[in-house]
Amino acid sequence: MAPSVDMPVDINVFSIPHNRMKELVDEYNMMMRETNFHNSGHLKKALALLQSTFTEFKAHEQIENKFIIKRLKLKLRQLSIENDAVCNCHKDSKLLYILDLLRMGHRKLRSFSERRTYVKELREALNEFTDDFLPHMKEEEEVFQPLLQQYFSYDELRALKRRVLQEHFIS
Ligand code: FEO
Repeated sequence: MAPSVDMPVDINVFSIPHNRMKELVDEYNMMMRETNFHNSGHLKKALALLQSTFTEFKAHEQIENKFIIKRLKLKLRQLSIENDAVCNCHKDSKLLYILDLLRMGHRKLRSFSERRTYVKELREALNEFTDDFLPHMKEEEEVFQPLLQQYFSYDELRALKRRVLQEHFIS
């Protein structure tokens, strides 16, 4: 169970990047609803947007791994605390699968039936990704952030937040 601690905004390392990630999720969900996938031009445009979005998600994951998760794991190890959620964070990410699928999309635009099969696969993969990604971010905000606050100082977290935002090009 997560430790009960206050969450001051200035040391919350997840909230601002996650606002951006959630905007991107809303954007591609809307795009998937509104795109006419029978039109190959529209499909190409949709693939380009998804490529850019999932490249940003991948960068977000790498920033978290490098600056947050690695440090949190080390701290827990030093204190001999086992935490499977932290240890397995990002291990079953579907990001790489979707990035592969998007690359394949550029080669699968030849016929109507190929396009239809591909779009069905893409839609299912995106739905699965979204179903995992939103609770994943919630867990980071509601479980990992309190752990960070429990085991790192206010100044350490303020500096960490600044670095995380810089890496996301948000500050
Ligand atoms: Fe903040 Fe691991 O997504």
